[in-house]
Amino acid sequence: MTGSRDGFSSWMSACGERAEFALARALPQEGVLPHTLHRAMRYAVLGGGKRVRPMLTYAAGEACSSGGAGGDAALDAAAAAVELIHAYSLVHDDMPCMDDDVLRRGRPTVHVEFGEATALLVGDALQALAFDVLAAMPIAPGLTVQAVQALAAAAGSQGMAGGQAIDLASVGKPLSREELEAMHRLKTGALLRASAALGGIVVGASSAQRAALDGYAQAVGLAFQVVDDILDVTADSARLGKTAGKDAAAEKPTYVSILGLEEARALAERLRLAAHEAIAPLGAGGARLAALADFIVLRDR
Ligand code: IPE
Ligand code: IPE
Ligand code: MG
Ligand code: MG
Ligand code: MG
Repeated sequence: MTGSRDGFSSWMSACGERAEFALARALPQEGVLPHTLHRAMRYAVLGGGKRVRPMLTYAAGEACSSGGAGGDAALDAAAAAVELIHAYSLVHDDMPCMDDDVLRRGRPTVHVEFGEATALLVGDALQALAFDVLAAMPIAPGLTVQAVQALAAAAGSQGMAGGQAIDLASVGKPLSREELEAMHRLKTGALLRASAALGGIVVGASSAQRAALDGYAQAVGLAFQVVDDILDVTADSARLGKTAGKDAAAEKPTYVSILGLEEARALAERLRLAAHEAIAPLGAGGARLAALADFIVLRDR
């Protein structure tokens, strides 16, 4: 393993390609009925996005793997599953009944391109596909069940969907810092946490390794949304591939609206260091995870 920046960039590109391939294979082809739904599902998932969640799965798996048979295929499945849930959450997040966004990953949002009913069904179908992909993993059934439960909990009403409900109910409200953190931990943190957890689960990580991964992923999961809030203010739409400045326009409580830009940046930096500390027990195997935490906090899009 190389700890250099170049080594990490090529590892990120390789993960992106691996995830793209696994996703393209898991998604039904456009030629399969119903054509429009399948075309819209592929549009929503393929050819865009930073693929941070698959990278977390791969890095966690690599950090805890003893190289057992089936490990690579199971990691590909887990990486695809977390990205399918994420892509579904973006399709619904952009719909007029939620954030009402027209731009995503540099392209028109799914409901703009295909209509609202199809966008709704794309989300439904991507979520089901994620669990289908996990169920087919070539690993011990007990580990598959653990992975399914972890992903279901992260996506559901006490995870991402619950966080989205709180987000929508919070428009125009001055949340306390504790309430804001609780919302961010659910709407974004839960799935990032599950992305790392699944990497550990499918390679048979020990409980000590899983605990280290979880401490890391909790810090990184919160940091991710803190940075998303910052970039909404500091970056432009072309760079982000989505409409900048939406949070203030929609009166969403964010880390920037509640703490201000400088405090939000300081918090992201503290979380980056907390993520590094949490993976100390993984030793040299945690180098990718450390570099990934740096990427998540220092990214510009
Ligand atoms: C955006 O996620 C939505 C949040 C949960 C903050 P990403 O910034 O990971 O979006 P993509 O996948 O790169 O498009
Ligand atoms: C979205 O948060 C979180 C989920 C999709 C679950 P945001 O609404 O801040 O995401 P962006 O900024 O539209 O990507
Ligand atoms: Mg939103
Ligand atoms: Mg949004
Ligand atoms: Mg945002």
